[in-house]
Amino acid sequence: MLESMLDMVPQGRVPVRIFNDPEIFELEQERVFGRCWVFLAHESEIPSPGDYVLRYIANNSIIVVRDEEGKVRAHLNMCRHRGNQVCKAEMGNASHFRCSYHGWTYKNTGELIGVPYWNEVYHRRLDKAEWALVPVRVETYNGLIFGNLDPEAPSLEEYLGGFQWYLDFYLKPGPNGTEVYGTPDKWVADTDWKICAENFAGDGYHTPVAHAFGFELGYFPSSARTHFEGVAVHIPGKGHAIGLGRTPGMPPFFGFPPEVVEAMHQTLTPEQVQVFSQVRTAVCTVFPNLSILLQPFSRIPGQPGVRFVTMRLWHPIGPGRIQMWSWCIVPKDAPQWYKDESYLAYTLAFGAAGMFEQDDFENWTNLTRQVKSTLARDLVFPYEMGLDLEPDPSFPGPGVAVPPYVHETNFRNMWATWARYMLRD
Ligand code: FES
Ligand SMILES: [Fe+2]
Repeated sequence: MLESMLDMVPQGRVPVRIFNDPEIFELEQERVFGRCWVFLAHESEIPSPGDYVLRYIANNSIIVVRDEEGKVRAHLNMCRHRGNQVCKAEMGNASHFRCSYHGWTYKNTGELIGVPYWNEVYHRRLDKAEWALVPVRVETYNGLIFGNLDPEAPSLEEYLGGFQWYLDFYLKPGPNGTEVYGTPDKWVADTDWKICAENFAGDGYHTPVAHAFGFELGYFPSSARTHFEGVAVHIPGKGHAIGLGRTPGMPPFFGFPPEVVEAMHQTLTPEQVQVFSQVRTAVCTVFPNLSILLQPFSRIPGQPGVRFVTMRLWHPIGPGRIQMWSWCIVPKDAPQWYKDESYLAYTLAFGAAGMFEQDDFENWTNLTRQVKSTLARDLVFPYEMGLDLEPDPSFPGPGVAVPPYVHETNFRNMWATWARYMLRD
C-alpha cells in the first residue's frame, strides 16, 4: 500500500487505511517520529538556567532543560541504571536530577555525578562517564526548540528547507520575537494526528462549513464569498505547508497593534512585509506534527478584534489517539493589553473548550472512528482538488506557491513525503 502511494498521491488519491491503523502507527513511531525534527518547547518556557519541561518524541519522555551556561539541552528521561523515570515533575527548575530508586544523580547537562555507595558496592570501578543520560539532538529556530532522535538526520535548517521564511510571520513580530502566554493546554482526543496535521496544512475548505458561525456571527473578518482568496505554499519533498488566506479590502496587518506593525517592518524583509501584510489567516504545518495558526478574531462579534497565534502539537499516543498540546504565543514586545486580548481570543477560539476547537474535534473524532470499519479500510479518498492549478512564478517566497488559498496541493506533497519516510528502512 505504501509503495502504491508514490503513484496514487500525485494523481489525487490517498488510501483510507493510512488513518487509524495499528501497524501504521507502530511504523510511524520509528520511521517518521524517529527521523524528523519534532517540536519540543518554546525557549520562553525555560528562560532561566535550570528551567526544564518534560516533552515527548514518539513514546520517549524527554527532559528539555537550560543548563547552567544557558545552553538548551535534551535528554532521554530514563535513569541509565535500571530505567526509572528520572524527572517526574512536568516542569520546574533543577541543577540536578536524582533518581528515586537507587539514587543515581545527574547534572542538568546529563552527566552522571552521583552513585550512592560507589566505594562500597562498585569498589570505585563503575565508570560514571559511560552512564550519562542519553542526549537527544536539539536545534532551535527563532525560539522554537526541536529535537531529533536520528543522529544521521540533516540539520534543522536543511530540514526546514526554506519554510523559515513563512515561520518568520509567526515568530518575528519584533526584535525580541515571541513568548508563550502561560502553560500549554493539554488534552487527549481520539483522532489520528495526520488528520489534524493535514487540516492545518491549509484546509481552508472546511472553515465556511464546520465553523460557519464564525462568519455569520462576525467573529472573524471573512465571508464565504471571499474566503478562498490567497495562496497555498509547500516545500517540495519536505512536507511543510502553509495556507495564506486574504480578505480583499482588509487594511495591511489588520488587528496587530501599531507598535507590532512598526516592529515587523524592521524584522521582516520587504518581500515578507509585502506578502504578510495582506494575510488574514496563516495556517501551517511543520512536518510532521507541529501546526501554527495566526488569525484575527474578535471576542465581541462584529468588532475588529486582535490577532492570536496558537501552536499545536498533535502528539500520537496510540492508533487514532493523540495527546493534544496547545500554546498561545504573543509578541514579546507587544503592550500587555494586547497580549491579554490575544490570549482571550485564542482561548475563546482554540483553547481546550474553544468554539473552533470543538467544531474540529467533533469532526476529527468521528471520521477517525469511521475509517477503521471493515468496509472503509480498502477505500481511497479523493485528493484531486487543484490538480489543474499552476504555481505562481512571481511569488517572492521559497517553495511552490499555488493560488488560491483552498486546494489540496499542500496535502499531496505532505502525504507523498510521509510515504517516502515510511518506505525508508
Ligand atoms: S534505576 Fe535509577 S538509580 Fe537505579
Ligand atoms: Fe477548523
